[in-house]
Amino acid sequence: MGRLENKVALITGSGSGIGKEIASAYAKEGAKVVIADFAEEAMNNTVSELTDAGHEAIGVKVNVAVNAEVEHMIDEAIEKFGRVDILINNAGVGDNMQAAANVQDDTWDRVMSINLNGVMYTMRKIIPHFQDNGGGTIINMASITGLTGGRGGLAYTAVKHAVVGMTKNVASHYGSQNIRCNAIAPAQVQTGFATSMDNIDSFGMEAATRGTNLIPRAGTVADIANIALFFATEDSAYVNGVTLAADAGWSAY
Ligand SMILES: NC(=O)c1ccc[n+]([C@@H]2O[C@H](COP(=O)([O-])OP(=O)(O)OC[C@H]3O[C@@H](n4cnc5c(N)ncnc54)[C@H](O)[C@@H]3O)[C@@H](O)[C@H]2O)c1
Repeated sequence: MGRLENKVALITGSGSGIGKEIASAYAKEGAKVVIADFAEEAMNNTVSELTDAGHEAIGVKVNVAVNAEVEHMIDEAIEKFGRVDILINNAGVGDNMQAAANVQDDTWDRVMSINLNGVMYTMRKIIPHFQDNGGGTIINMASITGLTGGRGGLAYTAVKHAVVGMTKNVASHYGSQNIRCNAIAPAQVQTGFATSMDNIDSFGMEAATRGTNLIPRAGTVADIANIALFFATEDSAYVNGVTLAADAGWSAY
């Protein structure tokens, strides 16, 4: 029997990258998974791969920056699978490494609306459902930039620090109601994330990557999915409000 048998997991940004690997890892452990992404083709492909392999999966197209779409996504998941037990706030975008003096308003707004507002919208909507169900688990995808100062642009660093703070806040407020909220802080993971950024700020890039030669190795999506599995199961029952650095010790230096 899988470790997530009879559980329903909703994973944002799971059409590709880290989110896709988490969805696959959860499905292999018996979870029913909701693939939520605004890239429709990638979303549909992921759903097909999972259902072809005999797993239960549905796709819901969503832009997590739009509250009405987030509400629809969660309603749809509950309607199709009856409940949601695990929410992974994984969808996120980069900030083109813009240093403070070079921040562009549209970049700032985009990063805040997806990486910050999106996380708040999903948590605001799911918590009452978890309360009705007697509990639930939230896993937020932070970043090592949420625990350190100089490894990203200003907006991305600010927003991932906010994700770490929201994780602690939710854990603290709702832990006694059997709701857990933890976060993962990856360093460098090989996905399409870096290539999704364009018009990179060269000053910000140079400043933010000064220490990358000290990362023992880049992470794989499986490295991160393994942590997401730990946070979703009872193996982590006594863990709440933590952000776990997934960086091979880079930030320990
Ligand atoms: N890759 C890394 O090195 C790295 C490091 C630290 C943290 N992270 C974080 O991990 C998470 C996943 O990153 P990834 O590397 O898998 O990126 P990715 O670009 O490979 O995948 C992100 C997925 O999110 C989706 N998405 C983006 N904006 C969305 C929106 N508004 N609504 C719905 N879906 C949306 C994309 O379509 C894509 O499928 C992000 O939150 C990112 O900040 C990544």
